[in-house]
Amino acid sequence: EKITAIVLAAGQGKRMHSKVQKQFLEIQDHPVLYYSLRCFQDSLLIDDIILVTGNDMISYCKNEIVDRYSFTKVSIVIAGGKERYDSVYQGLLACTDTDYVFIHDGARPFITEEILERGLAGVRETGACVVGMPSKDTVKLSDEDGFVGMTPERKQVWTIQTPQIFSYDLIRKAHESIRKKDMSTITDDAMVVEQESGVKVRLVEGSYHNIKITTPEDLDVAEVFLKKIKKI
Ligand code: CTP
Ligand code: MG
Repeated sequence: EKITAIVLAAGQGKRMHSKVQKQFLEIQDHPVLYYSLRCFQDSLLIDDIILVTGNDMISYCKNEIVDRYSFTKVSIVIAGGKERYDSVYQGLLACTDTDYVFIHDGARPFITEEILERGLAGVRETGACVVGMPSKDTVKLSDEDGFVGMTPERKQVWTIQTPQIFSYDLIRKAHESIRKKDMSTITDDAMVVEQESGVKVRLVEGSYHNIKITTPEDLDVAEVFLKKIKKI
């Protein structure tokens, strides 16, 4: 059984408004992407890692991240695409003989071995699993005019993180079929499976630490989390 991680680092980070793309910003002396890769490198569950980045960042990633930190599981560094799902698709095409794939945002540095374990147990049920957490805030859906449309019951609302884990054949086929259609509303990997197959997606707990670095204030939070985690 072969398990591959696809780590995504090809985004522009527009909401961060920084010169350096957020996945390459340093927190506590290492780039954000370092922490994301470290967990997969150290996990016995993971056989290889496909790193997806911008065309202009491939040599930086090879030299300053993969070689510098001896991430020996990174089998290939490839160029992503315009949208996140394009980068995921390129990652899927680069897999060889993979049975299960962990798709992960390089901008989420706080994954842990426990999260990977829950994800693998979850994907074995149906072939599709996402990690997330019960929403702390009440969520409301807005109508077109900016009024409250409806309020889903809070205990049913989860906010979704990565990794998202799939049987390779399932996610590959779902991508092949959705790519012929409109993908403009696709914001995560599970949506592709939800729309293109009847397979149920298992929800498992990630953690409240497993934030995505998205806007500048997330960097402040990340510094605090990292200091705390290093002490443990
Ligand atoms: N990503 C990617 N390829 C893209 C877009 C995003 O590999 N074409 C990656 C990002 O590098 C990030 C993850 O997907 O690790 C989550 O996406 P997001 O938080 O939206 O990152 P960005 O697209 O870079 O940020 P923004 O949307 O603010 O521009
Ligand atoms: Mg984005």
